Amino acid sequence: MLDKIKKLHSEITSLKINTRQELESYRLKYLSKKGIISSLFEEFRNIPNTIKKETGQRLNELKQTAQAKFDSLKSSLNTSEETRRDVDTTKPSYSFVSGSRHPISIVRREIIDIFSRIGFIVSEGPEIEDDDHVFTKLNFAPEHPARDMQDTFYISRISAEDSNPGDILLRTHTSSVQVRVMQSMKPPIRTISPGRVFRNEAISARAHCIFHQVEGLYIDENVSFSDLKQTLYYFAHELFGKETRIRFRPSYFPFTEPSAEMDLSCLICGGKGCKVCKNTGWLEVLGCGMVHPNVLEACSIDSRKYTGFAFGMGIERAAMLKYQINDLRLYFENDLRFLSQFKSAI
Ligand code: PHE
Repeated sequence: MLDKIKKLHSEITSLKINTRQELESYRLKYLSKKGIISSLFEEFRNIPNTIKKETGQRLNELKQTAQAKFDSLKSSLNTSEETRRDVDTTKPSYSFVSGSRHPISIVRREIIDIFSRIGFIVSEGPEIEDDDHVFTKLNFAPEHPARDMQDTFYISRISAEDSNPGDILLRTHTSSVQVRVMQSMKPPIRTISPGRVFRNEAISARAHCIFHQVEGLYIDENVSFSDLKQTLYYFAHELFGKETRIRFRPSYFPFTEPSAEMDLSCLICGGKGCKVCKNTGWLEVLGCGMVHPNVLEACSIDSRKYTGFAFGMGIERAAMLKYQINDLRLYFENDLRFLSQFKSAI
């Protein structure tokens, strides 16, 4: 019997099988209930005990080899025959529809990229803030009318009538992050703080109660207004294009002195006057100024040694100008017809 098993083993291993029909005949001949291997197991019962152990081992090996050959041929024949029948390998593949970034994310990333090239780092802070970081340290006096410039969402107020540094609120600008940076770092400081801000405004095409800002801060010895102008000039060129001109108008913020607002030459008409710029040739884009000495002192920075500039802009506004979007609400509606129009390199 051992001889028979040996012969069968080499017969099975050298057997060539190319089609599914041949495979089926193989199965019937060797592996089925009435096949050769089963009949050998029948025979095995009657062999003398002296050779039972070895014969049993060989027989099991034979069965495993035969079964393994069957299994691997079965899967390879299946796939190769199916490939031949059902798949046209010359057909072009399906194209993937890839998602796109939200325009706010695109512009935020671009702004971060532009400023990081001139050494600004990104800093972030909490959206739920206290009055101290949003107003008091930024030189808003308790009864200062400037506090009315921003309608604030309060979470908890210590007194119903008066604002208090301990009041908890949703930040109305990311200048609060810059206060935190000034408190924790020593000059030179070069940082931008992108983030979500909240103001209690009725939602319309031009206003929303949630929007995004990037504010910048630069503090060192001998920082001047011309550094501010040159930095913003570089920024406007990078984000809006080399032809963009800028101008500064005097303005007021409690935390900067002097303060200014920066306009861009209209991106549509180039300054000649059109509907978008309301025939002025200019578009408002950001607020800026030299950091008020009171702010530096409130954050324990020596205002006789150090000076600095700050600026802040709405990302929605910058994206509106860049892409000529005319309604703020589009940013929040998640309409794919709007969103899929934006493609970004970063
Ligand atoms: N914090 C101001 C705002 O929210 C923007 C600003 C920042 C203006 C820094 C001047 C300097 O409108």
